[in-house]
Amino acid sequence: MIAGKRVTLRSLDEDDLQRCHRWINDPEVTGHLTMRFPISMSEERKWLEHASSGDAEDRAFAIVAEDGVHIGNTGLHRINYLDRSAELGIMIGEKERWGQGYCADAILTLLRFAFDEMNLHRVYLRVDEDNPGGIRCYEKCGFVREGTLRDATFRGGRYKNQHMMSVLSHEFAARREK
Ligand SMILES: CC(C)(COP(=O)(O)OP(=O)(O)OC[C@H]1O[C@@H](n2cnc3c(N)ncnc32)[C@H](O)[C@@H]1OP(=O)(O)O)[C@@H](O)C(=O)NCCC(=O)NCCS
Repeated sequence: MIAGKRVTLRSLDEDDLQRCHRWINDPEVTGHLTMRFPISMSEERKWLEHASSGDAEDRAFAIVAEDGVHIGNTGLHRINYLDRSAELGIMIGEKERWGQGYCADAILTLLRFAFDEMNLHRVYLRVDEDNPGGIRCYEKCGFVREGTLRDATFRGGRYKNQHMMSVLSHEFAARREK
């Protein structure tokens, strides 16, 4: 268990499968994520087994709110132990929990783990330019915008720009000292 202020991050297991499957097939939840196609239960099972298997390059966690409810998932992907970097992903699957600060607490908790326990140096992500909730949340957690990838994704019949954002270990440490 990785404890935050309001959330706990724990490993994903078989009991979480139905919930993850529901979220990943909800277009409102996945509109800014990479997946396009409906995901079958067996595909989702494979993902869940991979993401919780201790695979060196990907690691996903369940986000559990203070009332014990599993509300979403977050994870580190493309973990590179030479460059000491990883790509962060997050999804609050229970939509009625949006806008209540869970994203920010989950990310700060995961960043603490990434820098203090995994000895990573750079955590980065890509976010659609029309995802204000995501951008605001990442900025609040110390991510800075590195640049814009033009027409980087095609959704809803049009190309959209994406921002590259990252936070470095010493920047995160400096924030914590304030
Ligand atoms: C994006 C997402 C993770 C945000 O989670 P959340 O728990 O609602 O975010 P928080 O409540 O921690 O909000 C963090 C900040 O963003 C702001 N925010 C949240 N949603 C917003 C929106 N739609 N528009 C503008 N600001 C928003 C909050 O007000 C807060 O800022 P504040 O503290 O200054 O008020 C969530 O909406 C989600 O899972 N969406 C679907 C998947 C997704 O888009 N993932 C990210 C892909 S890059």
